Amino acid sequence: MIVMLEAGSNLTSEQTQNLLSAAKAALERAYAPYSNYPVGAAILTESGRVYTGSNIENASYGASICAERVAASTAVAAGDKAFRALAVVSAGAEPGPPCGICRQFLAEFAYDLPIIMANLKGKVSNGNLRAYLPSAFTGDFVKNKKGKEE
Ligand code: THU
Repeated sequence: MIVMLEAGSNLTSEQTQNLLSAAKAALERAYAPYSNYPVGAAILTESGRVYTGSNIENASYGASICAERVAASTAVAAGDKAFRALAVVSAGAEPGPPCGICRQFLAEFAYDLPIIMANLKGKVSNGNLRAYLPSAFTGDFVKNKKGKEE
């Protein structure tokens, strides 16, 4: 069965559940002793593979990294850059969206990425990266296609 989620993800309900389960398992591997806000992310690629990441904090707080960027980096480092959907599970009262740096990082690979967010109580919300990061700065600007003098 194809379930059209609110914001345009066309994963089956089983794919959606699998992706959320992978993100939840990643949350359990989070290293978040400073914020006590564990996050898990899972990215499904067009190949059908799922890559996960958790937030990894550091005593030097600015050296911390978000779950989404760990998942995206793991996928890209495996040579799998065609992101199809992202699931994020976090421990807050409401499902948490990717932070601004993660939005920019993800936009490099999939500006129309569907995003499924959930908290540990099972509350789910759906979004889309383009809507979360309008007017993104993309590689086109750097590659002389837009906005740069010839
Ligand atoms: N965090 C993520 O892992 N993803 C986000 O998009 C939001 C924030 C992490 C960073 C830090 O370890 C903790 O959540 C609190 O900000």
